[in-house]
Amino acid sequence: MAKQSVSSKQREQLLRAPRRVTKHADAPYSDFRVGAAILTSNGEIFDRCNVENASYGMTNCAERTAIFSTIAAAGPKLEIRAVAIVNTRGVPCSPCGACRQVIYEFGPEAVIFFPSARGWKEAHITELLPEGFRLK
Ligand code: THU
Repeated sequence: MAKQSVSSKQREQLLRAPRRVTKHADAPYSDFRVGAAILTSNGEIFDRCNVENASYGMTNCAERTAIFSTIAAAGPKLEIRAVAIVNTRGVPCSPCGACRQVIYEFGPEAVIFFPSARGWKEAHITELLPEGFRLK
């Protein structure tokens, strides 16, 4: 996949996107509401939230909810250019290991924006997940 940079306008739109959807988060167990937005290679932005379950391990993070529902809406040829993540506590929050692997599958060149102790941090998916798993 060719590397595609994220323009400053797209970056601005992407970083704004996940805030609104945290209102939809279903997080009665952790009270940690997360929003994730995906910028696709078509320039579209999809935002989704985390959904928890009483059987805690069944919880779906915002990032995976966003990726799976984007595929359900737009088909399996998803190419992720960038992901932005926020939480309502305003604390540092990078994607969990499971989400890194799922992001990598659809965005081996994706740029990830997440809140750090000093504002937005930007990292390439392979910095967050070196040697991601591939089946081919
Ligand atoms: N969570 C996310 O949605 N994304 C992350 O990047 C980290 C964790 C969710 C899962 C769970 O609902 C809550 O945050 C606390 O772990």
